[in-house]
Amino acid sequence: MTKKIIVAIDGLSSCGKSTMARQLAEAVGYAYIDTGAMYRAVTLYALRHGLLTPDGQIDAPALEQRLGNIDIAFRVSPETGRSETYLNGENVESAIRGMEVSAQVSRISSLPFVRRALVAQQQAMGREKGLVMDGRDIGTVVFPAAELKIFVTASDEVRAQRRVDELRAKGTDVSLEEVLRNVRERDRLDMERAESPLRRADDAIELDNTHLTIPEQRALLLRLFRQAAEG
Ligand code: DC
Repeated sequence: MTKKIIVAIDGLSSCGKSTMARQLAEAVGYAYIDTGAMYRAVTLYALRHGLLTPDGQIDAPALEQRLGNIDIAFRVSPETGRSETYLNGENVESAIRGMEVSAQVSRISSLPFVRRALVAQQQAMGREKGLVMDGRDIGTVVFPAAELKIFVTASDEVRAQRRVDELRAKGTDVSLEEVLRNVRERDRLDMERAESPLRRADDAIELDNTHLTIPEQRALLLRLFRQAAEG
């Protein structure tokens, strides 16, 4: 018998977690939630409202006070047919992927009050199960009892090159060196932070996709999904 499950996908930055999670969700008819997009949306809000300066100064008390005004939602865009991120009703899918947000998001995501608020929203989204969620702490903190947990890794260079290709495809020209620095710095901050650091849950399956093509990865994931949902 197939049961509805929660799939938690965690791992290093830019290792293709979102592509994996999105494709799996589409293939099995589950909702897909990109929790990184939620931390990015809070970062964009803070930048736009002067609560975070481009050099990393955060007005934490003001941000905490305003958290209730930050509404983050995912809606399927009629143009792309994909789930995209909305901040207070505005489609910010492209704005949250730029270097300005990428450079600051680790600072915002290390604030305990931000994590508490977003984790509570994420847990509410999973109440009915039937969900694929990707992030850094999904298998450890958000859904420690998830039926399927995957921890994704890939080499730094491959991850940076994939991010460069993604940004260039959207018309943003960036250098590989800059992106590589950002990827390494974010890994360090994500793994060293005091609050919910990135780590593999003991019962997560590790998947190094450095040498896997997207179709290979997709097939592997579907197999793992079937085992977990039918087991
Ligand atoms: O997956 P991403 O690169 O879009 O995530 C953006 C940042 O948000 C990343 O630097 C780590 C942080 N993040 C987090 O702390 N916890 C999550 N569940 C998801 C992302």
